[in-house]
Formats: sequence, structure tokens, C-alpha cells
Amino acid sequence: MTDTAPSAPQPATPPTDLPAVLRERAAALDAADPLAAYRDLFVPSEGLVAYLDGNSLGRPLTATRERLASFVDGPWAARLIRSWDESWMDAPTELGDELGRVALGAAPGQTVVADSTTVLLYKLARAAVDARPGRTVIVADTENFPTDRFVLQGIAAERGLEIRWIAPDAEAGVTPEEVAAAVGPDTALVLLSHVAFKSGYIADLPAITRVVHDAGALVLWDLCHSAGSVPLDLDADGVDIAVGCTYKYLNGGPGSPAFAYLAAGLQGEVRQPVQGWMGAADPFAMGPEYEPAAGIRQLISGTPPIVGMLPMRDMLALIDRAGMPAVRAKSLALTGFAIEIADEHLPGVRVASPRDPERRGSHVMLDHPDFKRVVADAWARGVIPDFRPPQGLRVGLSPLSTSFTELAEGLWAVRTLLR
Ligand SMILES: Cc1ncc(COP(=O)(O)O)c(C=O)c1O
Repeated sequence: MTDTAPSAPQPATPPTDLPAVLRERAAALDAADPLAAYRDLFVPSEGLVAYLDGNSLGRPLTATRERLASFVDGPWAARLIRSWDESWMDAPTELGDELGRVALGAAPGQTVVADSTTVLLYKLARAAVDARPGRTVIVADTENFPTDRFVLQGIAAERGLEIRWIAPDAEAGVTPEEVAAAVGPDTALVLLSHVAFKSGYIADLPAITRVVHDAGALVLWDLCHSAGSVPLDLDADGVDIAVGCTYKYLNGGPGSPAFAYLAAGLQGEVRQPVQGWMGAADPFAMGPEYEPAAGIRQLISGTPPIVGMLPMRDMLALIDRAGMPAVRAKSLALTGFAIEIADEHLPGVRVASPRDPERRGSHVMLDHPDFKRVVADAWARGVIPDFRPPQGLRVGLSPLSTSFTELAEGLWAVRTLLR
């Protein structure tokens, strides 16, 4: 894994009418930020004033340009199909181990990179309910991301199961008490997001995992909004199954493959339903019957997306260098600053995310009836947050690529557009 080297400094952002007091406060936070220099390792974007959407699509690293070019000339052009034997066959599990070590708190042999989050959710949720025969209920929450809910609805219809919905406070998230009230001896699986995609609420993963286990069920955590921004300790917390995407805080690029974690102790027990040749014990035996590969490899179905796995290697190297505790510290400083600016400078705007830092992920949801228009206008000015219905402006703060001054400039532009 190559490390990243400093690149050209970011282009100066156009001057704005940010008041001196806010400019100085942001500059002081940048000056005190031990990770400030990492921002220069990302490819500059012409006309960009503030990128507040790193939780939807992370920015590319300059090192990724070189990695992609040398991949074309090297493993692909020079070695051609021989690269499958030389490195590509092992890439999903080798990269999975690296991701597990750097960001998930997972020992080797339990993480694989494959498919999309949606497909892995399907494969693992189906495998989990089948591993608890006789139990007829899946527990989920109404505030989870649509794909999670839709996948479960499909599985419930396919398997004749019931979904028991928790309806959490939309500005917070699911609590251990709510899970305890929903699970019972009939529960096969509980699927939740660790960080809520709207509110940014961090669910109490260790406590909820214990509650689910006490009921004899399996837990599946969606880590899309935590992997690479919130430290995880999947092994220590006894998590059964987890999935997540790599194009947000892991900067894998548009459509980069997802990852799945399956605890070692469950690998002989659950059986995923998309039985493809690449997850078979001996793919090139071309035999008549499917026999799953041993270990985490059994989660693979078809040919691994090798090209899509390249960019995230650069971000993992960067996160490894910074360390997840430092990434989390900066994330909290950024989200805290966003809340401070909203409180002091955005009249009529409500913070719809947890104020308790312990329960807050790396994005902040702001609420105002005009935000649909404001977000569209902001994009035209090079200020890029995203809009989430009904009236939320989501400020996504990717710690290694976002500065405090950029955040202040972006939110000041929002203030201007609101008036
Ligand atoms: C919580 C959550 N789950 C799943 C997804 C997306 O799944 P996929 O990568 O299959 O599009 C997202 C995308 O933003 C998400 O926020």
C-alpha cells in the first residue's frame, strides 16, 4: 500500500463577506488543527468554496491519480489475466483485512470488500434470518435509510416474516430501551444504522448488541456513516454482522464496492443466498454443485470489482497515518463548530442533530423551510451541502479533507441565501 505525498496546495477560495470575528475564530481552529495539512493531499476542485458533502461522496486523493494510472500500465496491461493469480483473487479479503484493522476494530478473516451495500445487506440479512429458523420477526426502524428498509421488506415477503418497526425520535435515533421493548423470543434479526443518515445520531452499538443477543437474535449494523469517521470496535463489542459503503468517508469514489463483516464464530453457521462461483470453495473446479469457500470468502458471489477497490486504499493509508482517534477528535470539533455557527449566525435555523458529542456522528442536520431552494442556490456558488426531505440541510464533515474556514465560509453563504 503506497502512502500519500503532499500535493499542490488548494486554490484560494474566492473572498466572501465572512465577518472578521468568525474568520478569526475559524482561522484559530485551523491553526490548532493537527490534521490541517492533510487537506492539501486531496485533488483541488475549481470554483469550490466549501465541500460539505464528504458523507455522500468523499473527495479524491492526489495519490489516487497515480495509483489508477499505474494500475492500467502494471497489473492490467503488463500482467493481464495473470494478475488474477498474482493478486486480484485475494484482493477482496486482503483489502477487507486492512479496512478491518484501520477502521473497524476487526481481526483478519472477518471483512470482505464486494458488491454494493444494498446487495450485501440482502445477502447477509437473508443469511441471518435463515440462521434463526422458527423465529419470524425482523426488527428495524422507520428512520433507517430507504435501501435498508426496502431490502428487509423484500426478505420478509420472500420468507413469510414480519417486520416489527421501531419509530424513533427522528432527530435522535434508536435507543437500547426501544430495542429491548421490540425484541423477544420470536426475533431472528435486528438491523440498524450505527450513525443515522439524517440526524447523525450514534446508536449505542455495544448496549444494543447486548440487548439483541440476550433475546437470542442476530444483529446487523449498517456502518455507512461511521466507517472512517467514528471509531469502531466490532470484535470487542461482539457484533455479529455489519455492512457499509466505501465512497463516503473512505473516499473509494463513485460506485466503489461495499464491505461486509461477519464474525468468525458465525462463518460456519450463516449461508448467504447468492451462490456464485467466486465464493465457491474451488472456483476453477467448475464442478456441478456449489460448495461455499471457507471463511469470509464465502460472502463473495461474482467477479470482484478490482478497479473499484483502488482509490479507497489511499484513504485507508491516510486514516491509518492520522489514526482514528485523531480523525474522531477533528470530526467532533467540526460538527461542534457547525452547531456553534448555526446557533449564533443562522436565525430561524434549528439544529436537528444530537448536541451531545458522544452521540453525534460526522454530519449535522439543519432544519429550515427554505432549505430546498437554499441548497440548490448554494451549489451554484460552489458551496455543497446536501438536501434531505422534508427541509433538512445536511452538513457532512469529512475530517481529513475539510477545514474550519471552509465550513464557516459555507455556512455563511447559507445565511446569505436565507435572507
Ligand atoms: C445508511 C445507508 N445505507 C446504505 C446506503 C447506500 O447503499 P448503496 O451503496 O447500495 O447505494 C446509504 C447511502 O447513502 C446509506 O446512507
